[in-house]
Amino acid sequence: MLKIVVCVSGGGTNLQAIIDSIEAGKVTNAEIMAVISNNADAKALDRARNHGIEGICLSPKDYETRDAFNEAFTTTMVAMNPDLIVLAGFLVKIPEAMVAAFPGKIINIHPSLIPSFCGVGYYGLKVHEKALARGVKVTGATVHYVDGGMDTGPIIAQKAVYVQPGDTPEVLQRRVMEEAEWILLPQAIDDIANGRI
Ligand code: GAR
Repeated sequence: MLKIVVCVSGGGTNLQAIIDSIEAGKVTNAEIMAVISNNADAKALDRARNHGIEGICLSPKDYETRDAFNEAFTTTMVAMNPDLIVLAGFLVKIPEAMVAAFPGKIINIHPSLIPSFCGVGYYGLKVHEKALARGVKVTGATVHYVDGGMDTGPIIAQKAVYVQPGDTPEVLQRRVMEEAEWILLPQAIDDIANGRI
């Protein structure tokens, strides 16, 4: 059984997609052992607790320095010893020590077709604002392994989504979630849990 820690910052719809897929038996051999959020008010923490999953808040704001936060975050994760760490809308950079402690065991969902619209400053709605500003006709989502960079690790899966005339960032974000993210991320977890990746 693959033991997963999911890291979140906000709404947690990707977390919900993972929970629902596990409960529906679409993702097998996997269980979420805990959800970690950097934001105590994240709706994602309620979603976790509603399903009997431990929800933990670890915020950089509660530490004097970023190094102190990074150390506490890494120590907590090492003590939990998950088989897989899933970044599902987690907007904090993963400490180098954590990447080193979990080689090939951290995956991230990003709301664009990497290498487009990714890297520093590209997160959440901003990704879709920039895609619309550039006038692309196709966007999508990517699941990838996390390395020391920002959205630079090996790609696991991608799914394309068409931009439609009149799209706002919010409308496009929702379509990318519905047509790509909520499908791709549970699928990648199922593939990892069942040895297909
Ligand atoms: C998702 O669209 C996810 O791909 C994105 O944040 C959103 C979180 O939504 N992640 C990034 O932009 C990472 N660079 P959610 O909290 O409802 O899952």
